Amino acid sequence: MSEPRKILVTSALPYANGSIHLGHMLEYIQTDMWVRFQKHRGNQCIYVCADDAHGSAIMLRAEKEGITPEQLIANVQAEHSADFAEFLVDFDNFHSTHAEENRELSSQIYLKLRDAGHIAQRSITQYFDPEKKMFLADRFIKGTCPKCGTEDQYGDNCEKCGATYAPTDLKDPKSAISGATPVLKDSQHFFFKLPDFQNMLQTWTRSGTLQEAVANKIAEWLDAGLQQWDISRDAPYFGFEIPGEPGKYFYVWLDAPIGYMASFKNLCNRTPELDFDAFWGKDSTAELYHFIGKDIVNFHALFWPAMLEGAGFRKPTGINVHGYLTVNGQKMSKSRGTFIKARTYLDHLSPEYLRYYYAAKLSRGVDDLDLNLEDFVQKVNSDLVGKVVNIASRCAGFIQKGNGGLLVAGNAAPELTEAFLAAAPSIAEAYEARDFARAMREIMGLADRANAWIADKAPWSLNKQEGKQDEVQAICALGINLFRQLVIFLKPVLPLLAADAEAFLNVAPLTWNDHATLLSNHQLNEFKPLMTRIDPVKVQAMSDASKEDLTASATDTGDAAPAGNGELVKDPLSPEVEFDTFAAVDLRVALILKAEHVEGADKLLRLTLDIGDEQRNVFSGIKSAYPDPSKLNGRLTMMVANLKPRKMKFGISEGMVMAAGPGGEEIYLLSPDSGAKPGQRIK
Ligand code: MSP
Ligand code: ZN
Repeated sequence: MSEPRKILVTSALPYANGSIHLGHMLEYIQTDMWVRFQKHRGNQCIYVCADDAHGSAIMLRAEKEGITPEQLIANVQAEHSADFAEFLVDFDNFHSTHAEENRELSSQIYLKLRDAGHIAQRSITQYFDPEKKMFLADRFIKGTCPKCGTEDQYGDNCEKCGATYAPTDLKDPKSAISGATPVLKDSQHFFFKLPDFQNMLQTWTRSGTLQEAVANKIAEWLDAGLQQWDISRDAPYFGFEIPGEPGKYFYVWLDAPIGYMASFKNLCNRTPELDFDAFWGKDSTAELYHFIGKDIVNFHALFWPAMLEGAGFRKPTGINVHGYLTVNGQKMSKSRGTFIKARTYLDHLSPEYLRYYYAAKLSRGVDDLDLNLEDFVQKVNSDLVGKVVNIASRCAGFIQKGNGGLLVAGNAAPELTEAFLAAAPSIAEAYEARDFARAMREIMGLADRANAWIADKAPWSLNKQEGKQDEVQAICALGINLFRQLVIFLKPVLPLLAADAEAFLNVAPLTWNDHATLLSNHQLNEFKPLMTRIDPVKVQAMSDASKEDLTASATDTGDAAPAGNGELVKDPLSPEVEFDTFAAVDLRVALILKAEHVEGADKLLRLTLDIGDEQRNVFSGIKSAYPDPSKLNGRLTMMVANLKPRKMKFGISEGMVMAAGPGGEEIYLLSPDSGAKPGQRIK
């Protein structure tokens, strides 16, 4: 046996200002499957991650919610951790970039770079919000496109005509935060001298560290010549102050990748047998892989290796880049119900369905991956339930009833077990290369052979014949053994199914090498159904709930802002709904007993509603239209009474009142004709 490998693996650190969605999950599931495969094979593989907690977006969001950034990131970290755990993403550590280890490592790396002459300093001129007293990043400036004249465009590009420009080119610029007209102001910034590393990067990016397509893209940037990278931001900023430079902070992307190291350091601090330097020191022989999406390649394949080199650390062994998730062939969209949060999925479906579907579609390339919801149902039901689990459920009953659950010795079809054994190296190779799709195809090919063989032997017919009982037992014993092999091969993808199968098989946790043995003369435990078919109704319910999220957040909180990088698609289409979907909504006449301001909320009113047999507490984003809420007291309106209660910062909102209009002062609360009584259902 060769020595076990030492491997450190990371996934990109999710921003701490929003929920995890199924696009993110593609990355965390991909990484987790690869890590589980390595552990399954007996390698030492450590998987760390963290929340990316710094930056002005987080600072402003916390301010808007009336909490401190520390509170915001703690809440989000709890939510993220729960989502990951339920999707069976098994981090060895999930930390935060806003942590002491990261502050120390970031300072240390910066000082090493500075002392080696890789930091430059000069004054730059930028827009400044005179009301908020802060410099404005491009996306916090809005104005009229200098090219086509479209209003309300961001500071760096026009959504209408696609022009890119400097914020100073915008006509009639306004701060997106306060609405004030920004002024130009100078300030000292610190720059990382990336061009110092041009030669190193030219070699490193062509040394097998990157996928071909990624290396080609990087080559374009390298050929164009590298620029110095601005790594500082002025106060106010939520981040780490630069050592020796009061009022100057590290730009979030400087300390974010260092967060990989910090998370590992934090793990080392409570795991005596782990040595930080053995993984990050210049002479480390450990492997280091970062799994990321294609949007953040420049940070990982240019800035990060240069920082590591300049500060005397080892560089990554590989950057593993994946494409973007689309749903039903299009960018995820809230109005289509395809912007699906991790939590919404988990409310309706089991995590292993998605893990398998992603595995079946993920290859090692950077192409986008489509989650087609119909195909998802069909593929999972046909492969996992119809092929894999089916083998066990076909055979278990005969062994239970015919032989008291004792699996007999012998091998009824050596050519089949030989074929399974022979396939193992190729399946392992596919996993290793992150070609999960090929691994799944090969495993399902084996499952097809096993099913065909069982169908051909037809133990259910033999069982009815006199004197064929031994043959039935021999067939089913092999069937169970083949099922066990498939479970071994699938375990990195389906850890829960594997655990349930281990319980049924009455065996210790299976490892990859167990595929070379067969169970013989072995007592099984009682068979319980291992996986049920996906009911398409649940998928529909998940999509509907994803749409509800939008309505809820648009009217209840006035905050439909997406997490991170602007994935909210403005989509004017209202998809058709089935009558049943409509009929499921419990619309009622509601009497507003009391309407009042909510401390700390700039858009919400708290409504106490009488709906006949009960009272409801509802938060509604209608304050801009009803500045004097007491005017609403005693008035009738309509509400959705069976909307899932939403936990909000100010309390639980138990429904939604109905209003029309574009927003702002133009919000019109609906009312029934006079005579309607609180609690009456709207039909
Ligand atoms: N905070 C940065 C990463 C810092 S790493 C030092 C960030 N965060 S993110 O939350 O926007 O994205 C986290 C990861 O999820 C990234 O690798 C990103 O590419 C990936 N994805 C986000 N949306 C995605 C899809 N729709 N599809 C696939 N991956 C997606 O970037
Ligand atoms: Zn334009």
